[in-house]
Amino acid sequence: MAANWSAEVQRVEDYLAAHATDFVERWAQWLRIPSISADSAYWGDLERAADWLLEQLQALGLSVEKISTAGPPLVYAESPPVPGAPTVLVYGHYDVQPVAPVEAWQSPPFEPTLRDGAMYARGATDDKGQLLTHIWSTEAWLKEIGRLPIQLKFLVEGEEEVGSEHLNNFLSRRPAQLACDCVVISDGAQLGPDQPAICYGLRGIAYYELRLRGPKRDLHSGSFGGAVTNPVNALAKILAGLVDEQGRIQIPGFYDQVQPLSAEERERLARLPFDEKKFLAQLGVCGAWGEEGYSLLERRWARPTFDIHGIWGGYQGEGSKTVLPAEAGAKFSFRLVPHQEPAKITEALRQRLQQLCPPGIQLQLLETAGTPAVLVSVDSPYVQAAYRAIQKAFGREPVFIREGGSIPIVASLQQVFQVPVLLLGWGQDDDNTHAPNERFRLVDFHRGIRASAYLWAELAQIQTTP
Ligand code: BES
Ligand code: ZN
Repeated sequence: MAANWSAEVQRVEDYLAAHATDFVERWAQWLRIPSISADSAYWGDLERAADWLLEQLQALGLSVEKISTAGPPLVYAESPPVPGAPTVLVYGHYDVQPVAPVEAWQSPPFEPTLRDGAMYARGATDDKGQLLTHIWSTEAWLKEIGRLPIQLKFLVEGEEEVGSEHLNNFLSRRPAQLACDCVVISDGAQLGPDQPAICYGLRGIAYYELRLRGPKRDLHSGSFGGAVTNPVNALAKILAGLVDEQGRIQIPGFYDQVQPLSAEERERLARLPFDEKKFLAQLGVCGAWGEEGYSLLERRWARPTFDIHGIWGGYQGEGSKTVLPAEAGAKFSFRLVPHQEPAKITEALRQRLQQLCPPGIQLQLLETAGTPAVLVSVDSPYVQAAYRAIQKAFGREPVFIREGGSIPIVASLQQVFQVPVLLLGWGQDDDNTHAPNERFRLVDFHRGIRASAYLWAELAQIQTTP
């Protein structure tokens, strides 16, 4: 059996080597589709991106289903059960972030370009490239060996970047279809260029849009300034009132659920091979900033934060215009840590906004996305299997990290299925996710495919009872 097994893995590896270029070319086809979920102008492209993926999965002989929702469609595919071996649910997303500012891209965001050993395009790593690593590894098993060593289920959505609202509803509607022994997600980063990682924690998020209205029309700031509140001034004051100089959030109750980090975890994080100077140099900043008393990794991964994503109001054109604008607004979010609940944060925020709101201003708060933080167990044979697969593909032992980003569906998956979630990010911190010039290095793409191919074999060693 063992000899047979390694012969099969060798054949899978040969298939991967022979198809390396083809994998990149098909990935580029998908990247040409501008599947931006935040912007309704692109909703037709979400549909096209889903269809492209469905075709690929169908060509592998998987049974596929396109599931309509009130939002973008879900793509589902599964292979036959393998008695005694685990069923693994692979999750990913085909939607991407907006591309602005488009002039900062060296090559257009939806004209995938190979440059310096990397694929440049919106979605290159987040998440089309990373998701495809699991699909191409599956292709190798199916085309070369004719079967998979485990049962795989693929669940891919088109609104992760805006909060996964409709997928959330679907999970509770059809839990039996998605039943599994573990979940695999590649939608994050390694710790560094040659330091693969297994992630055991994601931050949550509570995302808002705040709209302020003052006078019923724009006013001359000379004639009216001093008599009524300027909404842009009010916005500046309100936003500044949500956070102090150190980034500590100034909302009563905000930290009530936050647990201190254990001494043991802090030690473990401090021992990670992380070069702070290099990290900062890569970002082009001259110094770090953040909450006092915490290391840079703790601040990125395990402490709550406040960030403004966009702010508007008043005159933005050339020259000066002395206007007292009628309205102003901002988009901002809090990253959350384990035990914080988005709904409670919203409640506390509303009260704080009332305190901060000056007279003559009408305030409207929209809650656009919310998901709690998650911690996943690293103590399972599934994690051990991932460890071995990564070690084999990367030639390095992975380290255990947390991540600061959020994947909204993970909390629900944990709640509904109560199974281990393997967060195996193949990207890098300098891949420019959500920014101009997003990229995914080809070495990481191909190592990710190999790690995935080995992962199916390693997971097959875990005996499950039917
Ligand atoms: N792939 C990211 C999440 C991520 C980022 C994980 C960095 C690990 C490290 C994901 O696509 C994402 O960006 N999610 C959004 C969700 C939000 C809009 C609800 C995020 O974190 O901003
Ligand atoms: Zn993503």
